[in-house]
Amino acid sequence: MFGRVKPLDAILATAEKKSLHRSLGAFQLTMLGIGAVIGTGIFVLTAEAAQKAGPGMMLSFIIAGFVCAVAALCYAEMAAMVPVSGSAYTYSYAVMGELVAWMVGWALILEYAIAAGAVSVGWSGYFVGWLNTSFQISIPHALVRGPFDGGVINLPAMLIAAAVTALLVRGTKESATVNAVLVGIKILALGFFVLLTLPVIKTGQFTPFAPLGFAGISGAAASIFFAYVGFDAVSTAAEETKNPQRNMPIGLIGSLLICTIFYMLVAAGVIGTVGAQPVFGPGHEVLSPGTPALSAACSSIHEQAVVCSKEALAWTLRQVGHPFVGWLVGAAAIIALPSVILMMIFGQTRIFFVMSRDGLLPEFFSKVHPRFHTPHVVTVLTGIFVALFAAFFPVGLLADVSNSGTLFAFMAVSIAVVVLRRTDPSRKRPFRTPFLMITAPLAIIGCAYLFYNLSWETIILFIGWALVGLVVYFAYSRNHSHVGRGLVDVHETDADAPLPPV
Ligand code: ALA
Repeated sequence: MFGRVKPLDAILATAEKKSLHRSLGAFQLTMLGIGAVIGTGIFVLTAEAAQKAGPGMMLSFIIAGFVCAVAALCYAEMAAMVPVSGSAYTYSYAVMGELVAWMVGWALILEYAIAAGAVSVGWSGYFVGWLNTSFQISIPHALVRGPFDGGVINLPAMLIAAAVTALLVRGTKESATVNAVLVGIKILALGFFVLLTLPVIKTGQFTPFAPLGFAGISGAAASIFFAYVGFDAVSTAAEETKNPQRNMPIGLIGSLLICTIFYMLVAAGVIGTVGAQPVFGPGHEVLSPGTPALSAACSSIHEQAVVCSKEALAWTLRQVGHPFVGWLVGAAAIIALPSVILMMIFGQTRIFFVMSRDGLLPEFFSKVHPRFHTPHVVTVLTGIFVALFAAFFPVGLLADVSNSGTLFAFMAVSIAVVVLRRTDPSRKRPFRTPFLMITAPLAIIGCAYLFYNLSWETIILFIGWALVGLVVYFAYSRNHSHVGRGLVDVHETDADAPLPPV
């Protein structure tokens, strides 16, 4: 069952043909990481983390950041050694065989496509709030929230997903300059937030610290993990990195550390000023974020709690008497979040592209547009699904489901690193995970712990998705697999190739 392995040498031959220029240093890598990471997690999900953990969400940020750091170190060894598209999917194919690779690729669909949906919903929250504060335009709830959240359809979320998809079909890749500007905007926005809130913190707001106990803190850690997703963008730039042994860990750990510090400060700013106690139901029952029951409880207190806000940071600033800066932070989110959506949809199309090229998905998935030179079929298909997720599901559920796929993929990669050290110890490793025998088990256990603490709905959805994946594999992919048919492909170009920068 694990026998169908794609030979590592064939994968590396494809990588060698690509031979990108090694130009990225530690600083650019760190910027790349921060650009991909800061998004809906901190701007929006802070409110959901507060509903689950209260002020204890500060611990949740640390736990999730630590798990990401150890997973990132494992990821980096694979990324530096097998620098080709497809990340976790490709690594697994080479080490643990086709079935595991298929399951990882299938889980990555959750990571990327669903995350794009989550960020679209997060964007919509800021956009709607910003329209309201700027022009007193208030769109009915029915049109800006999904059915689980007290509405019917989230139109702005759907439209932003469609707009980003259109951009990707035309062919765009985020340029280093645009990324640097957007990182600057995000850091400025969070920096202003911290500067204006920390001086007016009231320590009394931090108690009770963990109103829902350690279970609440763990649950919030599993959700807030989303705030760190995207750092794998750093590992996938391995082949463009100068001196990866030194710069890769600096880029990975550096961007994670900077984000963790910002997240802690922002969380402290929210908790210390407007308070972060959960809202309970009429009978003091615990309410989950993104449910009609919480929407109803929030309506009954006129949305006067941060956990009710869809634009937590802007709302907090308005509450502490800085409406103009709140408006600016809203504008920053509206400008910067679409780039996170873009990276996620782009990542998804690459995974589909590689899986289709391996024969596991139909060939038309890797069709390239004659004029735009983009994989338009798969981009439009992904865009339609992302827009539908964004239209009908609440941000927290989407983020949790995306986390389930990401955690699964990270676990697989951490196992693959250890296996490959055993089975192929002499292969050249441009970057070696430090203390692998401690780091990898910590990553595996950490991911399993966070996975276990996701909501039961999420875990059931993940299992359902995995079962569908198995059916598709045995009904289609297994018979069409190039490796299974004895074809060993060495490609002239990698999946990056049809997507030129504009
Ligand atoms: N980490 C990214 C975000 O929070 C996915 O939006």
